[in-house]
Amino acid sequence: QPTAEPFLPAQRSLPALRDALPSCKGCELYCHATQVVPGVGASNSPLMLVGEQPGDQEDVQGLPFVGPAGKLLHKALAELNIDPASIYMTNAVKHFKFIRRGKIRLHQSPRMSEITACKPWLLAEIEALRPRVILCLGATASKSLLGGTFALMRDRGKILATPHAERVLATVHPSAVLRGRDQQSIEQLYQFLKDDLALAWKSAQ
Ligand code: URA
Ligand code: SF4
Repeated sequence: QPTAEPFLPAQRSLPALRDALPSCKGCELYCHATQVVPGVGASNSPLMLVGEQPGDQEDVQGLPFVGPAGKLLHKALAELNIDPASIYMTNAVKHFKFIRRGKIRLHQSPRMSEITACKPWLLAEIEALRPRVILCLGATASKSLLGGTFALMRDRGKILATPHAERVLATVHPSAVLRGRDQQSIEQLYQFLKDDLALAWKSAQ
């Protein structure tokens, strides 16, 4: 059973976690990625956003949410007048998983075993930050924190109590918005993302 557990530092502060993260070999995903991508944001943030995993650009830059999905997320935050510097953003899985297709690296969804392997990092971040609200972006983060049977499109936008935080909710992933079937579906999914972000922000105040 792969796990990050042995690589976690004794001290569970955000800086200590960030320092220890690059040495993680808790699952096989470290082998092919450029680098690990730690969370960013205010250490006193009342709201934590949890994405899936770094994408191609995040893997190159070492920062979360700097690629196309991240740009869409930042657009939604700006439209809601939420300062991105005032929230903490991280991922359920900290290394980029992909397959090579010629010059491009195609994103692959992490397996449950990889989500589980990386979960100690996420739980330690939650423990260090103690956010009032956690918003899971997409199915992977939801699986990690709300269980493998969580039904995203049925239960998105509902505030749930979990052992990790008093209030956890889930919404669609910004990359799912970008992949929407047609213009109408893209607009609908974007509205879900914005509504759930607004609710998460409001309940974190
Ligand atoms: N998508 C994610 O889920 N996380 C990132 O950091 C970037 C894109
Ligand atoms: Fe460690 Fe997570 Fe990277 Fe796997 S994906 S090697 S558990 S940091």
